[in-house]
Amino acid sequence: MMQDFAARLIDWQRTHGRHDLPWQGTRDPYRIWVAEIMLQQTQVLTVIPYYTRFLARFPDLAELARAPLEAVLALWSGLGYYARARNLHRAARLVVERHEGRFPRRFEDIVRLPGVGRSTAAAIAVFAYGERRAILDGNVRRVLARVFGVEGWPGQAAVAARLWALAEALLPEHDLPAYTQGLMDLGASVCTRRRPRCAHCPLTACSARLSGRQHELPAPRPRRDAPRREADLLVLLHAGAVLLERRPPSGVWGGLWSLPQCPQGVDAGEAARRLGCEPAAVEPLARLEHAFTHFTLSIRPWLVHVRAPIAASESAGRLWLPLAELDGAALPAPVRRLLQAVDARTGQAGQE
Ligand code: ADE
Repeated sequence: MMQDFAARLIDWQRTHGRHDLPWQGTRDPYRIWVAEIMLQQTQVLTVIPYYTRFLARFPDLAELARAPLEAVLALWSGLGYYARARNLHRAARLVVERHEGRFPRRFEDIVRLPGVGRSTAAAIAVFAYGERRAILDGNVRRVLARVFGVEGWPGQAAVAARLWALAEALLPEHDLPAYTQGLMDLGASVCTRRRPRCAHCPLTACSARLSGRQHELPAPRPRRDAPRREADLLVLLHAGAVLLERRPPSGVWGGLWSLPQCPQGVDAGEAARRLGCEPAAVEPLARLEHAFTHFTLSIRPWLVHVRAPIAASESAGRLWLPLAELDGAALPAPVRRLLQAVDARTGQAGQE
């Protein structure tokens, strides 16, 4: 299997792989970098419209570096894992400072950019510069663990080291872009997590397939239940606008606009008063849940109709956002959904 792994993958990629993705057919490292960052935690079909909008607004690195973070986050809104957007923006500014605005050519410089790990840097080096580098993202880990019967959870350092060694050893001498794309495409379309389509796989000597262990490899993370956190959020509504607060730059939803949180043990009306808003009526809205990587957030929203509002200034981290302007705002996805529901409801009910 070691010998013809690459040759089989390259052949398969040519006939069955993807050739018309919007980040293919370019060697512009900026466009490739943006795509690889978006694809780190998000599937191709979801990424495509975000990618297209992002490049229309920021066609090159200089435009991205010049833009305010706010504009970058707004275009990222809904894609999740916002640290990626903040890192992308910070990295663009670093490239302007350290590399005179030209995306670095050397792997060692690429891998030092914020948000770029070893696998992402290798993908950029392969697709933009045709270098001979190994990638190992989640899909590739799965393919290699199955084909070569690698036991253990790949999040464990020793298992990861074995997989990296395999990934390096398998590299062909030529055709690195087709090979790398082939690995990605096979992992995404054939060697899928739940229902691998083994009958369509070119890697017929696969250890997992031969032993019927496709569903046991790679081994899952040892289970630990995600903790639940609860948050009461305030939807302070006045004249068709809601009060938003900017989240601190690090942590969950860092830098995005979110709803003010009701302190524990304080009722929503009192919390509104503490924010300088005189409540006219308070009603609970339906609870919603949002799964983060390390915990599940259970949100209980309170709709507070506000009689006399405070003035808010963006510079102080507060803002009254008209519900009619939800679309362009840098909001976390669950907050956007919640406010869309409030908008639909209050729209039906007439003027506030
Ligand atoms: N996943 C990560 N990088 C990718 C790429 N360049 N094409 C398709 N899927 C990917």
